Formats: sequence, C-alpha cells, structure tokens
Amino acid sequence: MMTKNDRRDFLKKTGMGTLGFTILPSLYNKVAASDRLRVAHIGVNGMGNNHMKWFAAIPEVETVALCDLDEKILNASLKTMEGLQPGVEVKGYSDFRHILDRKDIDVITCATPDHWHAQVAIMAFQAGKDVYGEKPLSYDVKEGQDMLKALQQYNKIFQLGTQIHATDNYHRVVELVQSGMIGNVHTVRLWKTGFSPGLGFPKAQTPPSTFNYDMWLGPAPVADYFPERCHKSYRYFLDYSGGVYADFWCHIADIVFWSLQPKGLKSVVAKGGTTGEIADAPKWVDAEFEYDGLKIFWTTDPPNVPGAKDRHIGAYFEGDKGTLICDYNTRSVTINNETVEDLKEVPLTIPRSPGHQQNFVDSVKSRIQPESNLAYARNMTLPMHLGLISWRLGRKLQWDAGKELFIGDKEANSLLSRKKRKKWDLF
Ligand SMILES: NC(=O)c1ccc[n+]([C@@H]2O[C@H](COP(=O)([O-])OP(=O)(O)OC[C@H]3O[C@@H](n4cnc5c(N)ncnc54)[C@H](O)[C@@H]3O)[C@@H](O)[C@H]2O)c1
Repeated sequence: MMTKNDRRDFLKKTGMGTLGFTILPSLYNKVAASDRLRVAHIGVNGMGNNHMKWFAAIPEVETVALCDLDEKILNASLKTMEGLQPGVEVKGYSDFRHILDRKDIDVITCATPDHWHAQVAIMAFQAGKDVYGEKPLSYDVKEGQDMLKALQQYNKIFQLGTQIHATDNYHRVVELVQSGMIGNVHTVRLWKTGFSPGLGFPKAQTPPSTFNYDMWLGPAPVADYFPERCHKSYRYFLDYSGGVYADFWCHIADIVFWSLQPKGLKSVVAKGGTTGEIADAPKWVDAEFEYDGLKIFWTTDPPNVPGAKDRHIGAYFEGDKGTLICDYNTRSVTINNETVEDLKEVPLTIPRSPGHQQNFVDSVKSRIQPESNLAYARNMTLPMHLGLISWRLGRKLQWDAGKELFIGDKEANSLLSRKKRKKWDLF
C-alpha cells in the first residue's frame, strides 16, 4: 500500500507537466486506484453536477466525497455519482469543513454560489488542497486579494471554472489578435444580451428542515427565506452575486484579458437598470473601462458593429488595421473590407488545452499553474466588481491600479469588501 507521500511522488512523476501534453489513454488504465488524485466536490447542484461528470471522466481521478448543505441535493447527487463511478465509495457531507479535515483528499472543486467561493478556496489551501473553483472568482475585490495571498502562502494550484478558455476557438482568437494582423487594438466591445429577472415579490417561508439555510447565507447578511433567494436564482441578489452581468463577465472578458493583458485601469463608469422586484442585482448594465491605450465597453444590447446582433454574447476587437469579432465558438476577422474566419499565415503558437479539467489535473501533478490560474483570473474579474460599484453609486470612479483603490472616494473604497457575518467569517 502506497503512503500519501509515495502517491504524491508517483503523481508528480506521471504528470507530464507542460501544458498541452497529456498522459496517453493506455497509461490511464495502468493508474491504480491508490495512485489517483482524490477529489471532493463542494456544492453539487447545477454546475456541481457538471464537475462530477467531468472529473469522473478523467481516469487519473477518483471522486471520494460530495458536499452540499441541502440534504435533498446531496442525496440526489450521491445517486448520480454511483452511476458515474460504479463501485467506488463516495461519502456525503453537509459541512465542507469535514472534507477539508480529510488528509486523504488532494483536490476540491467548488460550485457553491459566489459568496462562498473565497472562504471555501482559502480554507482548502490552508488544509493543503488544490482547488478547481467556479467563476466569478469571488464575491468582492478584497476576497480575490485574500485568495491570491493564500494561494501563494500555501503554494497551491487553482483553476477558475471558465471552461470556454480551453476551446480551440479562444486559443485561435488570441493568436490572431496577438499576431498584430488587426494592428494595435484600441477598443474592445463586449456584450451579453438578456435581463436579470426580478423574481416577483415572494413571501417569507420557513426553510425546509433538509436545508441548512443559515449556512447557505454564510457570510452574507441574515435575510428572509424564500426558494427564489437560493438555488440557481441567488445570482440575481446583490448579497450573493451581481446578476447576468456578473454571471457572464468572466466567460467573455476572458478572451480580452488573455489576448491583450490590459494594464493600468484608470477609470470605470457604469449605468444600469433595476428590476423593481425582489431581486436587486442590476437588470442590465452598460459600462466603460479606460486602460492605458485601450477602452473596454460592456453593453447589454449588442453594439452596432457587423456580426454583433447575431450573437447573444460576444467580443469585438477594433484595431488600427482591422477588426475581429468572436463568441465562444465562432470568430471572423475583417481586414481591408475582406472578412475571413482565419488567417492561415498566422502560426499556431499556443499549445492547445488537453481539456479544462485535465489541464488542472496536469497542473496539480506538475505544480505549474494552469491556464485559468488565480493571478490571471483575479485581474480578469476585478473590473467586473468595479463596474458593479460604479453602478451602485451612480458615478464615474477613478482607479489607482497600483494600490488597487479608488482615488479620493471613501464610499467607493468601502464597497471593495463586505464585512462578513461574524458567525461565518471563517478564515
Ligand atoms: N462555468 C460555467 O459555465 C458556470 C455555469 C453555471 C454556474 N456556474 C457557477 O457555478 C456556481 C454554482 O452555480 P449553480 O447554478 O450550480 O448554483 P446552484 O444554486 O444551483 O447550486 C449551488 C449549490 O451549492 C450549495 N451550497 C451553497 N453553499 C454551500 C456551502 N457552503 N457548502 C456546500 N454547499 C453549498 C447549494 O445548496 C446548492 O446546491 C456559481 O458560482 C456559478 O457562477 C458556472
């Protein structure tokens, strides 16, 4: 029987380490159960069920535990897991801290609502676990800073769950933009259509006895229970997230931050609507971010540029020699009035992803941070939070990128972090 240290050495040796190189399928079958990465999934409803499927499909991984504070969801997911991984014992937990106590677990994934992301990840790092955590990175700016500090302090691996990052399309868009063929990019227009719903005016109820509502609220303020506040539609409440805007930002802003690595954010201004119903996240948001030599716009309606109205989400890069429009799966480049899907003369320079979860597993073994690593994810997510703050205050805000503070605006700076409810301020 291998000890934990033997197993870690084995995993390191079998990991190819570099991005784009994966273990051959024939080798997968030779990986004994005792040599596999042992994974636990925390928050196993919608996205958590995808985590279960994706990781169960990786033969170097064994899922050993699931956690959800809703007993019904936990039990249903344990059943699903039996089918995904027949014959392997998977324990169910209602409190993720018991998972963190288990020394035999190497990795956790987290698909709780946003207001739990940072605490789960930081406590997992402290407990010696690597983390595959869902987007958006954190609930507020300070939590993202704390996550990065903890990752570095405990020397852990983190991948943000922006699965589209792994697509060939995104890799190719980055190569095309970085090739300089569309020239110097001075403007990017991002959009996501669709409003955040208002959810009506539900009446307060007693939470079901099978659901630990107090823990679900966690660091957020105490609030009346009604089902609309919780599973799935939590994202339309400011106490937990920021509506459609916060939900989709990471998916499409990713392509801009990867291609251009914008630096020196100077100002942000956002406007938006409210739903007028119980859900208080913005119904829609239009925002403008000014960087050194680059403006990034976010709108809810597609911008008035060719190809935008056919896409419900997208990015439009405007360079001084041409433009490029893309969404998750498609792209087209326009130079001198000629529009093409690809430019054959631009070489493939970025190693393709072996898959977003496999990339993370490879990183856990090699100890080389993955593609959607925490430092990158934090830079990419930060402007989304600043846009929300500008929307809340209804004014343009000046930003000191070096200090990560608003300039001369105490009220705005106070919104960079939220005081956690004492009982659930865990780290
Ligand atoms: N990458 C993507 O494309 C994508 C798509 C959907 C959702 N997401 C992200 O996944 C996360 C979850 O979204 P969802 O739609 O599945 O939400 P959901 O509300 O359906 O599921 C969240 C689950 O987490 C559980 N939970 C809450 N706090 C917990 C805690 N402290 N410990 C254990 N369990 C806890 C809830 O009981 C619930 O079952 C969000 O951060 C969301 O942004 C990502």
